[in-house]
Amino acid sequence: MEALLITFSKWLASTGLSHVIQTVSWIIPTLQTIHILCVAIVFSSAVLVNLRIFGLFERDEPLHAVARRFLPPVWPVLLILLLTGSLLIIGEPRRSLVNTTFYLKMSLLLVAILLTAILQRTVLSSPDFIENRRAAGRALATASILVWCGILFAGRWIAYTQAG
Ligand code: HEM
Repeated sequence: MEALLITFSKWLASTGLSHVIQTVSWIIPTLQTIHILCVAIVFSSAVLVNLRIFGLFERDEPLHAVARRFLPPVWPVLLILLLTGSLLIIGEPRRSLVNTTFYLKMSLLLVAILLTAILQRTVLSSPDFIENRRAAGRALATASILVWCGILFAGRWIAYTQAG
């Protein structure tokens, strides 16, 4: 499997688009800047809604109002993360594609997307459901915060665990 990923990475690195990303000096810093700004939006939105579940943020506003304000914008911003992340990979394929930390990050991202979708659906379709089930709501919020933090760590960690 690793040999296949290395061959694919070599091919990807030899494409025209990869060459442009590698040689035009402003592209990678710009992609990284957009990526990290979007990380800040997605992470803070998810965590603020989770903190509201714990009663540590906007206590005087109903949970569904906080969720309606912060969760829907997460989805288009995730698409920008996907686009900038994919271009960063095309620019330097081996760094991520032959790196277990990258796959850890993507697996955690799938879990985070699932938890966020469940939270948004539940809170917006039955506004009192989570407020009436405190333990379940807090368990979901704790899992969500931990998984989002895991994605942040794994994202940064990719740089230190790349194959030689
Ligand atoms: C949607 C798909 C995503 C893809 C394909 C992707 C891909 C990438 C890539 C290729 C890098 C560069 C790693 C390196 O070369 O060191 C990166 C960095 C990073 N990503 Fe993502 N990413 C995605 C989503 C996310 C999300 C949702 C988060 C967190 C909420 C995130 C957090 C980070 C962080 C913290 C870094 C390190 C930035 C730095 O230190 O410069 N990423 N990502």
